[in-house]
Amino acid sequence: MIISPEIIDDIKFKNPIEDVISSYVNLKRAGSNYNGLCPFHSEKTPSFTVFPSTQSFYCFGCGAGGDAITFVMRTENLDYLSALRVLASRCGVTLPEETERVPGKKEVGRQRVLEMNKEAAKFFHNCLLDEKLGADGRKYLMEERKLSMAVINHFGLGFAPNHFFMLHDHLKSLGYSDEEMTVGFLCGKNDRGVYDYYRNRVIFPIIDTTGNVVAFGGRVLDDSKPKYLNTSDTPAFKKSKNLFALNFAKNHCENQLILCEGYMDVIALHASGFENAVATLGTAITSEQARIFSRYTKKVVISYDSDEAGQRAADKAFKLLQEVGVDVRILKINNAKDPDEYIKKFGAQSFKSIIDDSKSKFEFECDKIFAKYNILNTDEKIKASHELSLAIASYPSEIEREIYCQKISGILDVPKESIRKDVNAILMRRTRDAKNKEETELFRKSSGIGDRVNPSSAEFLKANKIEEAILGLIQLYPSHLKIVMEKMTVDNFVTLFCKKVFEKIKECYDSVGKFDIAFIQDAFNVDEISRITKMMAERQRLKTNGEDVLNDLISSLSKEKNEAEDSDSFDSILSAINKKKK
Ligand code: GTP
Ligand code: MN
Repeated sequence: MIISPEIIDDIKFKNPIEDVISSYVNLKRAGSNYNGLCPFHSEKTPSFTVFPSTQSFYCFGCGAGGDAITFVMRTENLDYLSALRVLASRCGVTLPEETERVPGKKEVGRQRVLEMNKEAAKFFHNCLLDEKLGADGRKYLMEERKLSMAVINHFGLGFAPNHFFMLHDHLKSLGYSDEEMTVGFLCGKNDRGVYDYYRNRVIFPIIDTTGNVVAFGGRVLDDSKPKYLNTSDTPAFKKSKNLFALNFAKNHCENQLILCEGYMDVIALHASGFENAVATLGTAITSEQARIFSRYTKKVVISYDSDEAGQRAADKAFKLLQEVGVDVRILKINNAKDPDEYIKKFGAQSFKSIIDDSKSKFEFECDKIFAKYNILNTDEKIKASHELSLAIASYPSEIEREIYCQKISGILDVPKESIRKDVNAILMRRTRDAKNKEETELFRKSSGIGDRVNPSSAEFLKANKIEEAILGLIQLYPSHLKIVMEKMTVDNFVTLFCKKVFEKIKECYDSVGKFDIAFIQDAFNVDEISRITKMMAERQRLKTNGEDVLNDLISSLSKEKNEAEDSDSFDSILSAINKKKK
């Protein structure tokens, strides 16, 4: 542990977990705990629980768990120290300097990358404005793409001159090291040294909702490849968790957000008054991004390119967005390849009208099915009807399904009841399949198969259950912690993971006299921290957590341990006998 327990204590005390989490998740009180929709997986009924008494959280759905620090690590994709830093600044505590904290080791931190990015963004922007250096960039953006200076300034667009060391030398003069530039994805490195990644490209800075420049996209000025160079993941940035232009759109998103494919689409839309447009960053939308949408708005209009690739991507985006519970519409763009071109050709007013009659997914699917089949032909009509039933069955709301059955009945001229029967049969089959799958999964879990955190649990199922109960209880009650620390040693534990957890808790107890998950955090990854929290969360659900229960558990574990060892020695006798036979 690099930061003293007193400081961690202080930071955690000043950042009650329920406060920290409620700025991300809508929490509802449930007895002494809080429930909400889990921010780490898609769900419709809340299984995410916050326990103020132990200052921890656990999701009974996906198994994510930990304390306020791990929560920030997960949601903001930060390492431990950076998450601690976020919480420290949230409550006005100053942490000792990074260099002092990690003597000898100079990991490039998020803050440093962000500062460097800001300098790089200024540099690119100034280059674009420079009479000589920026001429090609200005020509491209202003003449070819028809962007005004006001829009260029608004988005902070820039230009990277056709030069190998300009940005590098500039950043170096500001005190940034080669390592910082390469880790920050501004420079690459080969045998001859460090060189600028972005050359002869117009630059789109990507700015997060708190105003940090987190990444860049750089576009070539002609048809050369790759068309875009985007920042890979860095200590300050994860593509799958950011959206381009959300920093602006977040103030215009109450009614709806428009999701586009490209930076240029977003810029063209904002320039025409659609300030609620955003784009993913050179990848298909991820479930993490879908959850960002659900945090900011109720309705999303997917406005992808009109080519086939764009439409396929729209299908995928639709599914992910629907899973997080937002109302999704799909825009059909005719006679233009993308929203940027559409606005240039037909104007903002016309774009507004196609946004207003953007289709629901169902209408969109119907169009596709009716385009595929000729319903005047009986065979094809049957096929169409079946595909429509499949589509209807995927809507979770009964009312919606009813309305669609009605609609289809009219178009196909088939009684509504028949369609409804078909839909219900599909639903029943799906429920049955899902149930089977769930049962198999449950079986796998309960028999420890595929347990990556604690692979040896499969071999010692019963012992592992008892170990976890003990480790759960000592996290909950300091008095139980004291008993276990006095009575037990690491040799009383059976599975490797529980041995390690016990060891770390013991080290912590011996040095600080108490336990807090934050004190052992650097010994485990986030999944392991989740498992440790799970042990606690499972016990917290139960009423029987007294000292007698603890003592019973301790003695049952010792019985299990003996049996495990007996079978071990039995195994070794058996294999010795077998060897002799040969
Ligand atoms: P224009 O062709 O200038 O209108 O650009 P666009 O922004 O409309 O791009 P396009 O529709 O071709 O691609 C959509 C998005 O995919 C872009 O904004 C980029 O984020 C990403 N993208 C496109 N080409 C590449 C590429 O070659 N590499 C990477 N990493 N991303 C790309
Ligand atoms: Mn385009």
